Amino acid sequence: MIEFYHVYKQYVKSQFALSDVSFSIEKGEFLFLTGASGAGKTTLLKLIFKEELPGKGQILIDSENTNLIPQKKLFKLRRKLGIVFQDFKLLNNRTIYENIAVPLLVRGIRRPTIDSSVNDALALVGLTHRKHYIPAHVSGGEQQRVAIARAIVANPKILLADEPTGNLDTELSIEIFKLFERINANGITVLIATHDDHLMQLFPRRVLKLDKGKLISH
Ligand SMILES: Nc1ncnc2c1ncn2[C@@H]1O[C@H](COP(=O)(O)OP(=O)(O)OP(=O)(O)O)[C@@H](O)[C@H]1O
Ligand SMILES: [Mg+2]
Repeated sequence: MIEFYHVYKQYVKSQFALSDVSFSIEKGEFLFLTGASGAGKTTLLKLIFKEELPGKGQILIDSENTNLIPQKKLFKLRRKLGIVFQDFKLLNNRTIYENIAVPLLVRGIRRPTIDSSVNDALALVGLTHRKHYIPAHVSGGEQQRVAIARAIVANPKILLADEPTGNLDTELSIEIFKLFERINANGITVLIATHDDHLMQLFPRRVLKLDKGKLISH
């Protein structure tokens, strides 16, 4: 589902954000991406959704070489992916319901279908009672769940999450990880970037570990 072959990424000369990274993730896997700050986790995720391009190497998503996807067809790749950003990227002038509806609106889906999908996503993350609030008026953990609902509402094949529990206490973080398990049980491949060793111990899964841009275990 996700394949990296000898991938290198350099933002500045003589410093590799990623260096000779190769691994492969099967459909339906749930795994963690870890490593110290600056190790290259966000960079690796950005290469998957083609926000950044590799300097060298090949990346295959769903058997498609992303180097060969023209700009015009990029939306097709992005539709396979649900992304939870480190800073959520929620729209504060829209309700939670409307935030979750965005990926469906941009696909031109009709309102009745949108309504049932958004309500399903709200129920999955346990936020039905907050749907008419704006993000600024709910807690950090609730905002995190809005971001997750928006990432999965359009049925992606792969869910990527960048430090999804960075600002949450342990109890809430466990709830979020359980939510990822439920999403994974629906057949979605889940890749989570996290620093949190304690949580990774509580949820023993395969771990991709980066150290200064090199993959040191997979
Ligand atoms: N846009 C950029 N321009 C220049 N250098 C960058 C850029 N983005 C990241 N880097 C550098 O690339 C390296 C990897 O950064 P990256 O953000 O991928 O690390 P990370 O593992 O996600 O770190 P954190 O845990 O702090 O989020 C770091 O040395 C970083 O400074
Ligand atoms: Mg990062």
